[in-house]
Amino acid sequence: MALVEQLGASALIDFEREDYVDSVMRLTEGRGVDVVLDTIGRDTLSRSPRILRVDGRVVSVVDTAAPQNLIEAWGRNATDHFVFSRQNRSKFDALTPLLERGLVVPQVGMKCPLHEVARAHVRSEQGRLKGKSVLWVRT
Ligand SMILES: NC(=O)c1ccc[n+]([C@@H]2O[C@H](COP(=O)([O-])OP(=O)(O)OC[C@H]3O[C@@H](n4cnc5c(N)ncnc54)[C@H](OP(=O)(O)O)[C@@H]3O)[C@@H](O)[C@H]2O)c1
Repeated sequence: MALVEQLGASALIDFEREDYVDSVMRLTEGRGVDVVLDTIGRDTLSRSPRILRVDGRVVSVVDTAAPQNLIEAWGRNATDHFVFSRQNRSKFDALTPLLERGLVVPQVGMKCPLHEVARAHVRSEQGRLKGKSVLWVRT
C-alpha cells in the first residue's frame, strides 16, 4: 500500500478485502468515475460500467475468454476500448522520449542476469516482487 501511495494514488482499495465497485462508489460519494483501466480481466468488463459516469470509458489490456454481459455499459452510453501492444520498433521509439522526460517511470522490482531468471520467477510467484524484473544478457 505504501508503494502505491508513493506512486501517486490518492485513494487505495485493497482488492483482497473490499469489492472495488462498492469502494469506488463510496469514495466518489455515488458519482462514479470517468475511466476504468482494466488490467485484471475476468468479469471486470461486465462490472466496471456500474462505477462509470454517463459517457464513461473502460479501457482493458486483458483478453477475456468468457463472454461478457455489457448491459450496464449500454445503460451508461459507455465505451469499451481494447489495447494490445505489439513489441516493435515504432512502439519503443514512441516510448523513449516519454522515458527520457520522466513521464513514464518503470517500477523495477529486481535486476539480475539472464541465468538467474528462475529466481525472478520465484519472487514473482510468491508475490514478493514489487515491479518488473530486468534481466541482462552478456554479449
Ligand atoms: N494488452 C497488452 O498489450 C498487454 C501488455 C502487458 C500485459 N497485459 C496483461 O495485463 C495484465 C496485467 O499484467 P501485469 O504484467 O501488470 O501483471 P502482474 O505483474 O502479474 O500484476 C498484476 C497485478 O494485479 C493485481 N491484482 C490481481 N488480482 C487483482 C484484483 N482482483 N483486483 C485488483 N488487482 C489485482 C496483483 O496484485 P498482487 O501483487 O497483490 O497479487 C498485481 O499487482 C495481464 O493479464 C497481462 O496479460 C496486456
